[in-house]
Amino acid sequence: MYILEVENLLKRFGGLAAVDNVSFKVKRGEILALIGPNGAGKTTCFNMIAGAMPPTSGRVLFNGRDVTRHKPYDLNAHGMARTFQVVKPLAKLTVFDNLMVACLSKSRNIKEAREKAQQVMTRTRLEALANHEAGLLSIGNLKRLEVARALATEPELLLMDEPMGGLTPAEVDQAIELIRDINAGGVSIVLIEHIMKAVTAVADSIVVLQYGQIIAMGEPAAVMNDERVITAYLGDGYVASR
Ligand SMILES: Nc1ncnc2c1ncn2[C@@H]1O[C@H](COP(=O)(O)OP(=O)(O)O)[C@@H](O)[C@H]1O
Ligand SMILES: [Mg+2]
Repeated sequence: MYILEVENLLKRFGGLAAVDNVSFKVKRGEILALIGPNGAGKTTCFNMIAGAMPPTSGRVLFNGRDVTRHKPYDLNAHGMARTFQVVKPLAKLTVFDNLMVACLSKSRNIKEAREKAQQVMTRTRLEALANHEAGLLSIGNLKRLEVARALATEPELLLMDEPMGGLTPAEVDQAIELIRDINAGGVSIVLIEHIMKAVTAVADSIVVLQYGQIIAMGEPAAVMNDERVITAYLGDGYVASR
């Protein structure tokens, strides 16, 4: 039933509890949004879930199995992928070759990998840029490549860290469509995002972090109307613009 369960996750950096006793669950097939102000601990949560950083304490269950402190490549091989807030393409390689590298982590068969790379390019609308050097792409295209690279590893669970940061409004709409499409294909998603329009458009549930702690969680409508969330994060401007 749950693809991901985070239990009492704690991460200390010296005296700072960047993530402070955080627990939440992601149902198979759902999109859960993780929101909150800058510095709230969102990326640190991802780092611990995806194995990039060990928690000080707490547990991460993936498909019911304890995967706390497992390595990123191991988690990826078992169906967990992530995209980074600061995108990490292989800058000197083309878009296509970036995807080939990701596909070859799943299959050693070149022909299969090529087909998969092609499929992923179509799905993420990167075909026209196949032979472009990744390091020279616009931020919008880089963000799509970041998603494409994660998709190429055929995840069951995709962790997306601010995939819409720096995008134009038209690109945000495209990104919303892409997230819906990925989810419709059976991929569960945890989405860190600041653009509330996007969050409300796709999220089945929302977790709100502030100073490392969960201050609200549940269905989007209830969370977005929660006084603490409005005060801590959304602000009066959000209320006014609803
Ligand atoms: N590697 C690190 N070493 C020390 N402090 C860190 C490290 N990573 C994050 N932090 C601190 O932890 C807090 C949470 O950061 P982060 O998880 O990046 O927040 P968010 O993604 O919500 O903006 C911040 O105060 C940040 O400065
Ligand atoms: Mg972050």
